[in-house]
Amino acid sequence: MFEAKVESLSFRGLGVIKHPNGKVFYSEGCWPEDYAQFEIIKEKKNYGFARIVKLLKPSPSRRDVPCSYQGFSDQKCGGCSWMIADYESQKKQKINILNSLIKRYKIDFSNKIDSLIAGDEFSYKNRAQVHLQSNNLGFYAKASKKVINIKQCQVLNSKTQEQLEFIQNNKEKFSKEKIYLDDRLSIDELLAEKNLGFRQGNSYINSKMRATIKALLPSYKKGIELFCGAGNFSEILIENGERLQAFDYKIPNSPSILNVSFVESDLFKNDFFSMIDKDSDFLFLDPPRSGMKNLNHLVSELKNLQSIFYLSCSPDSMLQDIVSLKNFRIKKIIPFDAYPQTPHLEVLSILEKI
Ligand SMILES: C[S@@+](CC[C@H](N)C(=O)[O-])C[C@H]1O[C@@H](n2cnc3c(N)ncnc32)[C@H](O)[C@@H]1O
Repeated sequence: MFEAKVESLSFRGLGVIKHPNGKVFYSEGCWPEDYAQFEIIKEKKNYGFARIVKLLKPSPSRRDVPCSYQGFSDQKCGGCSWMIADYESQKKQKINILNSLIKRYKIDFSNKIDSLIAGDEFSYKNRAQVHLQSNNLGFYAKASKKVINIKQCQVLNSKTQEQLEFIQNNKEKFSKEKIYLDDRLSIDELLAEKNLGFRQGNSYINSKMRATIKALLPSYKKGIELFCGAGNFSEILIENGERLQAFDYKIPNSPSILNVSFVESDLFKNDFFSMIDKDSDFLFLDPPRSGMKNLNHLVSELKNLQSIFYLSCSPDSMLQDIVSLKNFRIKKIIPFDAYPQTPHLEVLSILEKI
């Protein structure tokens, strides 16, 4: 047991504390400036994990958690781990984390990152995966597969909240363990347990991302879009270009957009390099959380490339990928808060050729 003050948050959103012997520990459920008693739960050579036993002096940014399901035990919902702090402080911490990642990877970026683009802190989620286990319907508890029965979720929007309530009242009509709420689904489609596939989970922030891309997009001749999904950004991207090749390993609904050719391909394998137009002068990518480890290799093959727009749901993997690019420099970094109450952050980096 030891007492410590929470110094900052790690890029995964855990509190960073120092043991009196100098070793760094990470703890969930705490916020910068909390002073608390901690218990060590796991220790490695250079760092460890601890658990709050008693909060001795709470951070001034803490608030009464506005959800009775939220918590950090196996009896509580595992989502919304940042709901303990007021929203202004959550936004500030996201910027702090982004700045420390930029420093950690020694990124050559002398400008200030743009202000965080944010919307409502509650009622924003247009899509969510819920689980039905015995008579419990809801989300998993922290780090477990135990389903917490949830009747009302603060971050679902009105339509997905209605769908949650519908399933709660008609559990016997559903057979799968995993059910997708999606505000594009009718009740009949919900009953058919339809999954419409990936989409950006916050419609308001998605509209802001599209508007930001549109406002900053350069004119180009030949463009490449990687991880295009169903073409959410393709229709914006083609507005300033002559031709766009859009790739994803799964392109739902066979979109048809003038001057955009959609190609299904696994982008983590270099085989798709043979399908791209090597004269392309613009590249847009929106990869999954893991980033794109073969980005450097791809960029080295595109001799005419002038600018790159990299949108990411993991600033950590995005910055690691960017560090590997030799002839490009970051011009602008724009963060978006698509998932309030969680440590997640979407970031658009705009790079230009040096
Ligand atoms: C963050 S989403 C972006 C989707 C799209 N840009 C949008 O806004 O709807 C990531 C996309 O990566 C795709 N993806 C994941 N792994 C992939 C792979 N190995 N090869 C190609 N696409 C992949 C998924 O299908 C998904 O559409």
